Amino acid sequence: MKLPPEVTIYEVGPRDGLQNEARTLPTADKIRFIDALVAAGIRAIEITSFVSPKWIPQLADAAEVARGVARPPGVRMSALVPNRRGLDAALASGMKEIAVFMSASETHNKKNVNKTIAETLAAFEEVVQPARDAGLKVRAYLSTAFGCPYEGDVDPEVVVALIDKLAAMGVFQISIGDTIGVANPLQVEDVLGRIIAKQGVDKLAVHFHDTQGTALANCVVAMQLGISTIDSSAGGLGGCPYAPGASGNLATEDVVAMCHAMGVKTGIDLDKLVDASRGAATFVGHELPSKYLKAHLGKQARQRRHTERGGA
Ligand code: HMG
Ligand code: MG
Repeated sequence: MKLPPEVTIYEVGPRDGLQNEARTLPTADKIRFIDALVAAGIRAIEITSFVSPKWIPQLADAAEVARGVARPPGVRMSALVPNRRGLDAALASGMKEIAVFMSASETHNKKNVNKTIAETLAAFEEVVQPARDAGLKVRAYLSTAFGCPYEGDVDPEVVVALIDKLAAMGVFQISIGDTIGVANPLQVEDVLGRIIAKQGVDKLAVHFHDTQGTALANCVVAMQLGISTIDSSAGGLGGCPYAPGASGNLATEDVVAMCHAMGVKTGIDLDKLVDASRGAATFVGHELPSKYLKAHLGKQARQRRHTERGGA
């Protein structure tokens, strides 16, 4: 099996993860979480969203988070931006990278940003070029690329055409999203194959949710096709507030552990990543779904009990 020697993990836990939490979380906890992710060796993190606080109240402290995080050299920090107002706020908060986002299905797009797909593409004109002119790197997401919670199947040719449009805007990367976690490996091979035939692999990233347990298998297919940027969320935090049924994102621990076992480098220290996720589980107030994390914490608990019993 041919795999890239190294992958970049694009960590979305502080944004995709926390946007979905029922409780509003303290800014200081979010910043500590981001610091812990950096300490674990993560080099690309989506830290928040400059979106309407009426739509995503959980990330209403975007400016405080962006201003409060340490920015060590070599670590890219990004934030979602839906419109010119979001771009201005991101710039004022010192962001050097942003991400615009849209869906491949009309209904999800409308529910997520209150615009049609055509209106969203038009709104990107007000964000992408001005951001690039201001020296920012701009990433784009195409959500519901493998299925929509409202419309069901999504035509791969619609996905290919939208990716062509996003690439033509000059974004440096396009993350192809399985927003509700319904993709299967054969479908991933088909859809990504069609995109790669037009765009090549260099600009592409994948963003899988693990609703049906297929995210890792889908990642392997993407890696075999040469894609080397994988979005994931520490502990598997996440979902999508406008995608009913979307469970957690692919867990960073799970994909990192799998990559390391296959000899694919990530630059991430798994023990420190577990520490970051354990801290997040404490401040969100519930267990996180990552399988690696659960197994690791279970092993630690067994070892503790063994030691308490005198190591017999
Ligand atoms: P709208 O209601 O149509 O627009 O929302 P509006 O212009 O009338 O704004 C509504 C209010 O928000 C106004 O305030 C604006 O000023 C304010 P009011 O006058 O009522 O007091 N507002 C803002 N405030 C702060 N920052 C801004 C901003 N813009 C407007 N940037 C809008 C349109 C796009 C703003 C809204 O729909 C929105 O914010 N949507 C964001 C939804 C979101 O973040 N969804 C989750 C992320 S996408 C995702 O999770 C998928 C992904 O993970 C990939 C995958 O899984 O596939 C990326
Ligand atoms: Mg997502």
